[in-house]
Amino acid sequence: MALELRKQMDDALRFIRTKTSSTPAVGIILGTGLGGLVQEIHKETVIDYSEIPHFPVSTVESHHGKLIFGTLAGKQVVAMQGRFHFYEGYTMKQITFPVRVMKLLGVQTLLISNAAGALNPQFRRGEIMLMTDHINLLGDNPLIGPNDDSLGPRFPDMSEPYSKELLTAAETIARDLGIKVQEGVYVAMPGPNLETRSEYRFLRSVGADAVGMSTVPEDIVAIHMGMRVFGVSIITDECFPETLKPVTLEEVIAIANQAEPKMTAIMKELVARM
Ligand code: HPA
Repeated sequence: MALELRKQMDDALRFIRTKTSSTPAVGIILGTGLGGLVQEIHKETVIDYSEIPHFPVSTVESHHGKLIFGTLAGKQVVAMQGRFHFYEGYTMKQITFPVRVMKLLGVQTLLISNAAGALNPQFRRGEIMLMTDHINLLGDNPLIGPNDDSLGPRFPDMSEPYSKELLTAAETIARDLGIKVQEGVYVAMPGPNLETRSEYRFLRSVGADAVGMSTVPEDIVAIHMGMRVFGVSIITDECFPETLKPVTLEEVIAIANQAEPKMTAIMKELVARM
């Protein structure tokens, strides 16, 4: 099985290499309503996920499935426009397959964004949270099964799932650009339903500041393969048990779109200063 994964990665790489010889050091995965960074990329090659061997195909309407090669702030990057979620029915291995291929392409730093609900009562919707750590409550893990030691260790260390160096750089950039940022712990839930009041109370009590349904699988695989990761959550709604109101996907996307320029500015500058 581990050998099979390696073979699938090589198949995908071989196909991509028929389209581009780019060796980006930076990979980008954009979340719900957060595709705007793509406009900032000077595009060189765009490949539909559906063309790439073993790539899953996105099912959520709000996501476009494209792998974008180009330059951002003068640096070679590869961006996933559209990502895969556990609730769509993909396995953890499918969700994280593109991250593994990114590593083969040359990616050493992965930038990830997501839309998340606030659990920390200090947070407000429309704010952005730099991820300092995460809690995996997905009930699954992309590394379960035989380990291919040529890809990464059996028991990856998770003492720094989000790079301290990148976090510090992003804090400086946010200050320089006059953008207010929060920092905190992201908890991943499987979804697709939003959580109950009691679940929000629970998630807050175990130490989470924001809740979402993504990012953690990709982070785990990136760490497994020796990459460093920078994560940003856009706070799209407030998950405070006492004052909880119904939330719609439209609102989540609208708030994400509104807050997105702040995130785009930080990520672009982070790449520029690398
Ligand atoms: N839960 C609650 N609110 C959210 C989520 C979630 O997973 N994602 C974005 N807003």
